[in-house]
Amino acid sequence: MKTATISVAALLLGLAHSQANAQQVTRGELEYLDSCAVCHGLEGKGDGPLADELQKRPADLTIISRETGRFPYWRVFAIIDGRYIVPGHGAREMPVWGQQFIEGDVKTYGPSGGAIVTQERIHELTGYIESLQR
Ligand code: HEC
Repeated sequence: MKTATISVAALLLGLAHSQANAQQVTRGELEYLDSCAVCHGLEGKGDGPLADELQKRPADLTIISRETGRFPYWRVFAIIDGRYIVPGHGAREMPVWGQQFIEGDVKTYGPSGGAIVTQERIHELTGYIESLQR
């Protein structure tokens, strides 16, 4: 990964944070800006600063409902969590967020509290992505 890309990402996220602080933001949105915008873009369209570095283009998260006309909440929840998805062919480029979150959350809240906090964070993210559908 090129350093220039990283600093552009940091800049973009810093900007996102200052914009976010000016308005009422949900925890899901903050979490999204922290963990997801770098690949999926500030508006979820799959055009984040790291997008060009990946083998696979990050998904446009604003059109998930288009296919069936409804938002597949639990499918999206499971994709973000990632711990229960059977990997298809080839390496997954998206981090397994359920695993990433739980490692820190268990340290802070203990084993059962941590599991609950992790689940809640993924709910917040799923709800935020649902709100991005256009
Ligand atoms: C390192 C880059 C990267 C980051 C960071 C990232 N993603 Fe992804 N994401 C991808 C890629 C690449 C795909 C699509 C291709 C695939 O299946 O691997 C994807 C796919 C998805 C999908 C599936 C969309 C669909 O239509 O099936 C969802 C939902 C999603 N990401 C949500 C998130 C959320 C929420 C976060 C933050 C917690 C996040 N992503 C962070 C790279 C990333």
